[in-house]
Amino acid sequence: MNLQQLSAALSARLEAFQQSPPEGRGATVRLAPMGEIADSLALNQGLHEGLGGDGVERFLDAYLGYVTRLHSESFFAHQTAPPNPGSTAAALIDGAVSNPMAIFEMGPAAATIEYALINRLLSLIGWPAPPWPEQRQTDDRYAAGVLVHGGSLGTLTALVAARTRVQPDLWERGNDPRLCLICAAEAHYAVQRAAGIMGLGRRQILHAASDARGALTAAGVAAALRSARAEQRLPIAVIATACSTSVGAFDPLDEIAAVCAEYGVWLHVDAAHGGAALISPALRGRLRGIERADSVVWDAHKMMRTGPLATAVLYRDEQACNAAFEQEASYLFHAKELPGFDFLHRTIECTKSALGLKWYLALAWEGEAAVARYIERCFALTRYAWERICADADFVAAVEPEANILCFRPVAATGQELRLRDRLISEGEFHLSTTLFAGSRWLRIVVMSPSTDEQTIDRLLERLRGLAATDNTD
Ligand SMILES: Cc1ncc(COP(=O)(O)O)c(C=O)c1O
Repeated sequence: MNLQQLSAALSARLEAFQQSPPEGRGATVRLAPMGEIADSLALNQGLHEGLGGDGVERFLDAYLGYVTRLHSESFFAHQTAPPNPGSTAAALIDGAVSNPMAIFEMGPAAATIEYALINRLLSLIGWPAPPWPEQRQTDDRYAAGVLVHGGSLGTLTALVAARTRVQPDLWERGNDPRLCLICAAEAHYAVQRAAGIMGLGRRQILHAASDARGALTAAGVAAALRSARAEQRLPIAVIATACSTSVGAFDPLDEIAAVCAEYGVWLHVDAAHGGAALISPALRGRLRGIERADSVVWDAHKMMRTGPLATAVLYRDEQACNAAFEQEASYLFHAKELPGFDFLHRTIECTKSALGLKWYLALAWEGEAAVARYIERCFALTRYAWERICADADFVAAVEPEANILCFRPVAATGQELRLRDRLISEGEFHLSTTLFAGSRWLRIVVMSPSTDEQTIDRLLERLRGLAATDNTD
């Protein structure tokens, strides 16, 4: 079976999978013991006997029995967009062509797309995007960026760049013990992880005071910077979030940027989830002030209809982007007369897939405005859920949603959120998550699927009401 026959056979199955949920249980996810899944997939048999084309078709049938269905209208669990056909096409193309394009000679089309896509993202933030490399005048200064494999890696990349600016001799001498980071307690754990990888302990992460939404306040950031100064610490960056993972709260970026400017401290904005709002004229105001940041992380796989994973790390000043790393490899880094642009010096990764291709084709499938409408619809449906909850004495919400993330619970099952979620998931239809927020656990929905509508949300609330009412009796 050649590639054309194989891809035709597989795409017929994948199309059917996306269009029609299976009967009964397992509409969103079917959780089974791993041994059972491995047997169904005949994993060992494949390794010993080889699959061939027919075998891969059978394998896909079994595989689809145990997947998490992001396209399902009742998928509310996590911040992962169902890819649109443009993104799926990109995965197929990249899978077949396989161009590790961090150096131009290993994927000129992919590198050109990444360059152009980054420029589009820079201009959405409000930063000057550079012209094509061959048209540059040497003394012009622009913003810059790079695509990396995920928001966690993106956070590490941006914070390494910030540290290089604060301590330029870092690669020679190692960390100055006075280094610290400032963020909210609600910041994504990627920040703490990046700090640890960079050699900073928990004591070097200062939590600035936040408001009832868990969002940073300018006064809290100013107080943290004042005490850092008094203790002669060396802040690498203030990390603001747009929007938070738990409840989708946007930090007041404009006000925080003013404080950072006053103290001369790098402002990093974790817009992994909420950066997507920048493409909607109606929603972009939620990130007011983002253009004053020094660096921004923005995930495509959260809200841009792009499959996992692609993250932009964007910098207001290209100098900071280019100076982040200083390692050299003589087989890759050398003077060239040839055209193009190498991204290698901007990333932790050496081999890097064609991430721009995925992001670009997801946007270009129906055009940017269609993705903007999808994001607006997800945000609006979340507000609908919140309004329903506010009007219903059986439910309570944690905070008013600002994005497509909402924390709430049935009053009758307070304290039983984990059990409630387990029961809901094992029924098979709805899939949601829980989180700790403001000292207690909440059910958490993220409206991500384009097929979710008001009736889906009504049915979810009714099902939860029913489960909560029986929670202590069965
Ligand atoms: C605000 C925020 N930052 C960073 C991340 C980490 O991104 P990734 O999952 O792409 O590593 C997440 C993931 O949910 C997030 O919500």
